[in-house]
Amino acid sequence: MAADRGTWGTRTGFILAAAGSAVGLGNIWGFPTQVGQGGGAAFVLVYLLCVLLICFPILVGELSIGRHAQQSPVGSFALIRPGTRWWLVGALGVMTGAGILSFYSVIAGWTVAYVWFALTGQLAGDQQAIGNFFAEFTANASASISLTLLFLGVTAAVLLGGVRAGIERVTKALMPALVALLLLLAGRAATLPGAAEGLTYYLKPDLSRLLDPSLYSSALGQAFFSLSLGMGCMVTYGSYLGKREGIASAAAWVVLLDTSVALLAGFIIFPSGFSIPGFDPSSSGPGLIFTVLPRLFSTLPGGQLFGAAFFLLLTMAALTSTISLLEVPVSHFVDSCGWNRRRAVLFVTLAVLMLSIPSALATGAVPLFSNLPGINLDFLTLMSTVWNDFALPVGGLLTAIFVGRVWGIDGVLEELLAHHAWFPAPGLWAFLIRWICPLGILAIIVPAVLSIFS
Ligand code: TRP
Repeated sequence: MAADRGTWGTRTGFILAAAGSAVGLGNIWGFPTQVGQGGGAAFVLVYLLCVLLICFPILVGELSIGRHAQQSPVGSFALIRPGTRWWLVGALGVMTGAGILSFYSVIAGWTVAYVWFALTGQLAGDQQAIGNFFAEFTANASASISLTLLFLGVTAAVLLGGVRAGIERVTKALMPALVALLLLLAGRAATLPGAAEGLTYYLKPDLSRLLDPSLYSSALGQAFFSLSLGMGCMVTYGSYLGKREGIASAAAWVVLLDTSVALLAGFIIFPSGFSIPGFDPSSSGPGLIFTVLPRLFSTLPGGQLFGAAFFLLLTMAALTSTISLLEVPVSHFVDSCGWNRRRAVLFVTLAVLMLSIPSALATGAVPLFSNLPGINLDFLTLMSTVWNDFALPVGGLLTAIFVGRVWGIDGVLEELLAHHAWFPAPGLWAFLIRWICPLGILAIIVPAVLSIFS
């Protein structure tokens, strides 16, 4: 088994693969949507604090677990603390991976369709028309399900054909192109009328927002989601990392790239959004980028091509993320249950497809639970809340406890500092992972849970 696990080609290859997993719909679709629902700059502030103080230390921890054990998550936890129940953290991750993938692939399917819509000039007309187009498109159940199936199918095909070389190559070409296009779009957006209002919304926090407990849980969930943390994904990727590569510097690169792309997406969406009369960022839901961006493209010469290129890059970014999501349950069944890869891929893909159907059916404007007090969510938003805001932080909490208190700082530091790797502040990291991560996560999710039931 160990023999054919394979490793990343180079350190850059690893960073690219991990960044490819991290950068995806979470950055470009999720982050602006959440900022809009969380009320702007206050959300951004809390998000950045979560990334630095909670997620970065846990990322280092997850990579260390994986590289030390060289196993998929369930196996890794079991190998480091045999005979205990810690492998359950890995099992939670396997379920979370499938859950996230089930709604992620629905949105990824939309991005595929939007490549076509942009290219063929169907995203035209005023704001009303573009909004109606989105609502009608997502209400078309058979189209949504077919596109989800297509996206999952392509992901499965990549996994069957050997992941590592493929991900490295795709991401190497993709990441610079994506960043370049985002910079260009942000530059254009900044010169639109109304841009200043958008920037104020995005950058100047309304501190009264900080009193809302759900702001913290969504910011924390978004940070975990964006960095692919809390479900063993980075344990799995770390398990392919060679012993000579520095973990902390790789983690720092991933955080830097991922956060920059998310912030850039906000610099595109909010100035463009506020250039539209009557724009309300909080009421757009999952359709925000699909309804705001076409307007921006129409202000560019060759806008159809820009639009198509944008959605194509987004599709590819989503693909490198779905690959990493599917890889976790698949490698679990291969490593821990002895299945062959083909069987594992087929089984997990079919299971995820079933799970994705309700998300594909009930999206956009259809609130599923509007009759229940306090719950006004479409199914897709419900899924993303359950998995992102709760399952991932709980996974992260358990991982932090495992790393800081069960495996223990000394053991982890040995792994982290092997071959004189760069790691500037081990004491600070130990403090964060032992105290700030677990207490911070608890302080955020406990009030959020209580507020649901009150
Ligand atoms: N981070 C990806 C994004 O932002 C999504 C993702 C990929 C993910 N793998 C993950 C989220 C593992 C949580 C856990 O789009």
